[in-house]
Amino acid sequence: MRHSGVEATAYLVNESRARCGELARDPLAVDWIPASERSAVRALWDEFAEAVYAHDDLVVSLRGRCVLEVLTEALRRDPDTVLVSCGAGFTSYPWVLPFRAAVEVDLPEIIQAKRQRVTELRATGLIDDRDVTHIATDLTSGPARQELVERVRTIAAGRPIAFVAEGLVYYLPPQAARAVIGLGAAIDPDALTVVSYWPRAAAAHPVLAAQTRWFREHRVPEDATYLTVDDLSAVLGRRVDDNSPEQLQRRLLGKVAVPERELIPEHVAVAGA
Ligand SMILES: C[S@@+](CC[C@H](N)C(=O)[O-])C[C@H]1O[C@@H](n2cnc3c(N)ncnc32)[C@H](O)[C@@H]1O
Repeated sequence: MRHSGVEATAYLVNESRARCGELARDPLAVDWIPASERSAVRALWDEFAEAVYAHDDLVVSLRGRCVLEVLTEALRRDPDTVLVSCGAGFTSYPWVLPFRAAVEVDLPEIIQAKRQRVTELRATGLIDDRDVTHIATDLTSGPARQELVERVRTIAAGRPIAFVAEGLVYYLPPQAARAVIGLGAAIDPDALTVVSYWPRAAAAHPVLAAQTRWFREHRVPEDATYLTVDDLSAVLGRRVDDNSPEQLQRRLLGKVAVPERELIPEHVAVAGA
């Protein structure tokens, strides 16, 4: 596993879902990390919780549950929907939902770890054999994004697209972040898009400031891209439904268990649902 670099965040947020499996509805979260690496991932999470905030399990599970519900509805509308997940990390959507085809995109090291773990979990019978294409690429590269668009169009072969960028765009420079948000629409103008993001109004949030310090120590890029709902609507050319952590808590928990000032202010934007 990685203790530093942006790839380390894939382990961190997977552990967040594993600690809150019922809310996240991700029964596979605990299985993505091999037994030999689990204690190191838990230790990294505990260190993050101590230094930054103790509620990443809540924030990541709320956003994951929101994505899961939007994707469930997309499949209900059309069971042929193809999932395209950018910065997929160790998310489980292609295995916990009945997608007939899915594409998972991430940096090479994470794609290699995911492919290997898929092989191992299939061998033990924990996951089924699903049609998932894993693509290793750096989404900050314009030519790589264009190549991805062409490749996904071929895979989708005219089927509807559900595009997800969860826990990704704030790590990218502003221009790349906007281009990634628009990738689903670039593949198919009717695509459903689900993107999590940090609102510009929260740029001075104290938990984000603490996270920036932790990122610096762990060589995760510190320069975050913040966005507004209007930015997202402008990129996508359509109305966006915005879900804040407090709104998600009210909907999924029936109350605000932890106020937003104590949480990473991660919103989930949905367009085309
Ligand atoms: C916070 S994790 C989120 C992972 C997953 N979406 C989840 O919610 O569990 C961020 C992910 O984005 C990936 N990532 C960051 N920068 C990237 C880039 N330039 N190109 C492709 N993937 C990237 C990381 O490797 C990591 O898997």
